[in-house]
Amino acid sequence: MMKRKFAGILVAWACLAAAPLLASGAELMVYKSPTCGCCSKWIEHLEAHGFEVKSENREDMNLIKAQNGVPREMASCHTAIVDGYVIEGHVPAEDIARLLEERPVLSGLAVPNMPTGSPGMEGPNPVRYRVLGFGGEGGVVTFASHGP
Ligand code: CU
Ligand code: CU
Repeated sequence: MMKRKFAGILVAWACLAAAPLLASGAELMVYKSPTCGCCSKWIEHLEAHGFEVKSENREDMNLIKAQNGVPREMASCHTAIVDGYVIEGHVPAEDIARLLEERPVLSGLAVPNMPTGSPGMEGPNPVRYRVLGFGGEGGVVTFASHGP
């Protein structure tokens, strides 16, 4: 009797624990410059949302961006690859999870520059910013927007 009750609690606990893991199993490769602090904070944000993250420090970030087809005007600090998609800049984990679920015909997502209030760029005075989809047939699309 006691044993069964305990097992039930364990199952409930396991479900709760799994809930925030939006993207368990998805693995990101992040390229970043060795001195980038906000890149590391973005990586922590992704890991907190269940992504497996590997990172590599690179001095040639412009080359990495060019090789992955990141439009110049969408450039940010880091560039990541997940499941064939390119993720440029401080894109929230929830948008990456939706990208992997919906699998739109895009090269990837970008948050150009480094808007205050995006994951890894927390601070006073957060701004409204857009997550852009690039490389699709219709050109650049707004995938999501966040902020006040
Ligand atoms: Cu940054
Ligand atoms: Cu970065």
